[in-house]
Amino acid sequence: MARTLITGGLVVTAAEELEADVLIEGEKVAALALRGSDTARTWAESDAEIIDAADHYVVPGGVDGHTHMEMPFGGTHSSDTFETGTRAAAWGGTTTIVDFAIQRQGGSVRAGVEVWAAKAEGKCAIDYAFHAILSDVDDSSLKEMDTLVEEGITSFKLFMAYPGVFYSDDGRILRAMQRGAANGALTMVHAENGIAIDVLVEQALAEGRTDPRHHGEVRKALLESEATHRAIQLARVAGAPLYVVHVSAGEAVEEIARARDKGLNVFGETCPQYLFLSTDDLAGPGFEGAKYVCSTPLRPREHQEHLWRALRTDDLSVVSTDHCPFCFTGQKDLGLGDFSRIPNGMPGVEHRMDLLHQAVVEGRIGRRRWIELACATPARMFGMYPRKGTVAPGADADLVVYDPRAEQTISARTHHMNVDYSAYEGRDVTGRARTVLSRGRVIVDRGTYLGRPGHGSYVRRDTCGHLI
Ligand code: URP
Ligand code: ZN
Ligand code: ZN
Ligand code: ZN
Repeated sequence: MARTLITGGLVVTAAEELEADVLIEGEKVAALALRGSDTARTWAESDAEIIDAADHYVVPGGVDGHTHMEMPFGGTHSSDTFETGTRAAAWGGTTTIVDFAIQRQGGSVRAGVEVWAAKAEGKCAIDYAFHAILSDVDDSSLKEMDTLVEEGITSFKLFMAYPGVFYSDDGRILRAMQRGAANGALTMVHAENGIAIDVLVEQALAEGRTDPRHHGEVRKALLESEATHRAIQLARVAGAPLYVVHVSAGEAVEEIARARDKGLNVFGETCPQYLFLSTDDLAGPGFEGAKYVCSTPLRPREHQEHLWRALRTDDLSVVSTDHCPFCFTGQKDLGLGDFSRIPNGMPGVEHRMDLLHQAVVEGRIGRRRWIELACATPARMFGMYPRKGTVAPGADADLVVYDPRAEQTISARTHHMNVDYSAYEGRDVTGRARTVLSRGRVIVDRGTYLGRPGHGSYVRRDTCGHLI
């Protein structure tokens, strides 16, 4: 079995920081040994291949629990395939994604999962798993949930937004939550009052307010917090754990914090776009704002402080990307003259680890919290821990040798995502993945890509109830 030794680095996990060497055997972490220990000396003299991590961190590969590769939306598809999107993720030090398989209205949940499995099979550079989106909750889809949970699809997303597309009414959401409470699945909710938003969209368009910035104005923070509150109450009635995706409004954070103060199993996720971007971007000149159209929408800048605070207090527990890229030319421009036709979503899978590390550099969060938010908690929440999300004996050797001092300027000219713009164009960040390993194989090293499509394998996930 191939043996690799990562020496000289500072191992950072959600739990601790250790000056330790990491021994990899095959696809797994075999053991850690404190620097200078007899064990470390013995390893250094063995025939293991050495990766020098002096002056670097050794961290678990990122776990991005929210991506949309090749997702159909608004008459087009998100522009990253599983091949291009997972390669870009690898460049940025993310080694596992959980993507959303969509049940078509009138179709079965399983059929949706099969379509997504076929898109991903043989294509991924890194490991991948699926949540299922329930677009049509009825007796048969509820029954399907049970078998899917047994097969490793242990979380289901429901939409309070997008009437006529993915939307479920409260009764359907309640039924899915009840089923999840019984079978151990985690219910994820996109919390925005889509019915009310559609009224405001219609009024805005009728009044000639058609620019991208109106996307943010009609999708009001109050309609996010109202839906978040409602989702929490439905989850309480069902006795189900709840995971609120892509939280952007300070008022929605308050709802989650209040629920958590009561001791409820309610968890919140946010994304880098809500932490670093704002309605100022959405109000860019000409049609530029279309680059920043996503739902929930970007908020006025003052919301950011609420999100950062909640990341420190654990009222927000996970940072995922909601990576859902559409090219500016040829896709976003479907909404020229009508913001409601702009495909919703933004690119980000490549830069999550670095943007969050920037928060470490700026003193907003600590190093261990960085790893907790980006690796450990998503792995735990979605039933993959400790195989993913930590550096420990028996874990998959998904590891990143991270250079905390590397300077980079984010740009579409240098990124690897298949999209013609960067939401962070020109932004300077400190820190970058130098060497990335996926299940023991080096897939990125010092600016060279060494991975291949099909190396990534499907991860069957455990249920989440036991951890919460
Ligand atoms: O704008 C977004 N977030 N697009 C992806 C679909 C979703 O709601 O997560
Ligand atoms: Zn959503
Ligand atoms: Zn999403
Ligand atoms: Zn779990």
